[in-house]
This record gives sequence, C-alpha cells and structure tokens, in this order.
Amino acid sequence: MTAQDFILKSYHTNFETGSVKWASPSNIALVKYWGKKKDQIPENPSISFTLSNCKTITEVTYTKKEDKEFSFDVYFEGEKNEAFKPKIQTFFERIETYMPFLRDYHFKIDTSNTFPHSSGIASSASGMSAIALCLMSIEDKLNTVERSSDINYFNQKASFLARLGSGSACRSIEGELVVWGENESIADSSDLFGVKFEGDVHSNFKNYQDTILLVDKGEKQVSSTVGHQLMYGHPFAQERFKQAHDNLANLKTILASGNLNEFVKIVESEALTLHAMMMTSMPYFILMKPNTLEIINKIWAFRAKTDSKVCFTLDAGANVHVLYPESETEIVLEFIKNELVSYCQNEHYICDQIGLGANQI
Ligand code: DP6
Repeated sequence: MTAQDFILKSYHTNFETGSVKWASPSNIALVKYWGKKKDQIPENPSISFTLSNCKTITEVTYTKKEDKEFSFDVYFEGEKNEAFKPKIQTFFERIETYMPFLRDYHFKIDTSNTFPHSSGIASSASGMSAIALCLMSIEDKLNTVERSSDINYFNQKASFLARLGSGSACRSIEGELVVWGENESIADSSDLFGVKFEGDVHSNFKNYQDTILLVDKGEKQVSSTVGHQLMYGHPFAQERFKQAHDNLANLKTILASGNLNEFVKIVESEALTLHAMMMTSMPYFILMKPNTLEIINKIWAFRAKTDSKVCFTLDAGANVHVLYPESETEIVLEFIKNELVSYCQNEHYICDQIGLGANQI
C-alpha cells in the first residue's frame, strides 16, 4: 500500500444530509512512538494495547453545501467548542487529498469522552480516530464504485487518516494489540497505518488490565508535537530508534511465550527511555512528578515482596498506567487502594483493560 492508494477517485454527492457515529478507544503504547518525520511518519515502530473503557464518542452530521470552503462546527459534551477547531482544520487540510468530498459538505462534529476531560488523559488518540472513522463511513456512503466495502481497506484507510490527525491515533481502530511502523519481525507492518498484531498471544495477556493513576490532571507541560521535535538532532536519537526496533522484535517473542518477567522489563524500560529522551533533549524537560516516582518505587517494592507481575508504563506526562494480568486483579487493586491512591490527584484513578477497537453506533 502507498499513500496514493488511499485517494478517493470518484464519488457521488447526492446525499443531502445524514449522520454517522463511532466510539473509538484510547490506547497505551508498550514500545513508544517518539520522534517523527514529515507527514506524521514515525521514526521508529511502536506497539500498543488498545483500551476498552477510555473512549471518545463522536457523531458527524453532514449537510451538502454549494461553496468549496471547509465548513464545520465542533461541539464538546453538548457545548459549542472553538478550542478544538484549529486541530480539526489542520486535520482536514492534511487529509483532503484523500477525501475530496470534505469541501462539499458542512460538518457538525459532536464529541464526548467517557473519561473526564480534565483527567490529563490524552484524548487525541481516541478523538482523532473517532473522527477518521466517521469520515470513512461517510466516504462509504458516497462511494458506490470503489472497494470501500472491503473491511481491510476501511480499517487501513481509517488508521491512515487518524495518523494524519495524531500519530498514536492510528493504533486505536482495532484491538487488542496494534503495531504501527515498519519492523522486520512484523509482516505487513507499515509506517502509513497501524496493523492488528497477528502473532501468537499467550493467554497470560488475555484481558490484561490497565489502571490509570491520575497523578497530575493539569495541561501537559510539553505537547507531544513539541516533544517529537526534540528528537531532531537529539544526541541519542539513532540509538533510541534502533532500540525500539529490537524491543518490538523481542516483545513479539514474549507475547507468544507469555514470559511476564521479560514483558515487565521491556515495558518499564520503554517508559523510562521515553522520559530519558525528554530529560536529555535541548531544551530538556522532566514530566514526571514526585508522586510518579513514589508510585514507581512502590510498584517495585510490591513486586519484590510478592510474586506479582504488576508493572508501570508512562505517556508523555506524570500519570502512571499500572499494567497487570487479569488473574492479579484482586491483589493489585487492593495494593492500589492501600498504597498508591494517596499519590493521585483527588485520589482519582480509572480502571481499564485491553479492548477490541472502535465500533460504529
Ligand atoms: C508518548 O500521537 O500524541 O504517547 O503525532 O504529534 O499527535 P502526534 O503525537 P502523539 O504522540 C504520542 C506519544 C506517546 C507514545 C505513544 O503513544 O506511542
């Protein structure tokens, strides 16, 4: 597949109006995407667990119009929202080559999240993938000739578009594990879109749990777009990109064998490497908070004194994703309530688990 294959060549605009609605989840990377080239092409491959409960629900209503300007309104949780418009405008500009009908309609984009907006959880992955899927459903209606009924094409193009909205969003279309970025060990992996991980997955990873500890609900100190730029000319960049390839190849073997000790090592090392990249860039940032470190130390102490395989991962922020097998749900939730909740802002945490991807409503 090349980008050209995703250009919609002919379509009918004989639908005056209509609406489509999708729910799309967030995802949590195990091997992290950090650094990108032009057009949202990642510098290294990544793999993520698709989540189940943390979702964005988006309805797009389209109404035919005569002029050829982009025209859309955004509503967030029922209220008109101007703040989201620039990001969507940029998104439309990036994808219009692939969806020329974008200028033929006015769009009302109505969106809400299942998680609190001020939780510090990045909503760009779920938000951008939800819009991309809505636009794909509209394309499906307008395109009666091409191969859009092909589910692979639908998912691939939805992921391709979502990537142009926000890189990590391309990993939210399907579940349970999605790879984005070319890697020798993963057949059909692509820089253009995320692909469902088709390798063997041991039953240890079935319904894997992710409890998100909200350490800091404030605005991110560094946007991920700025963060990715820090990898240009970063002294350790090339080594880091190579390491991500190796970690992904090793993780593939670990997912098949079910070796949780090795899983923990790769996942935690990836999280700390991501933050190490930020700490060693110019300018440099520390995005972890004191409570992030307290939580990490508690998790390590808990693992040392029990047989637990609980581990942590981090995004580009202070919140901690606590990952553990379903069989440990009871003991780990007990541990979280007794020892970790006090480090969360307003004792706030969200229970989630690995999920199957987006669905149309
Ligand atoms: C640290 O996908 O938010 O979460 O492509 O600029 O929108 P843009 O960046 P974004 O970056 C996410 C980075 C990360 C790691 C990951 O999810 O792989």
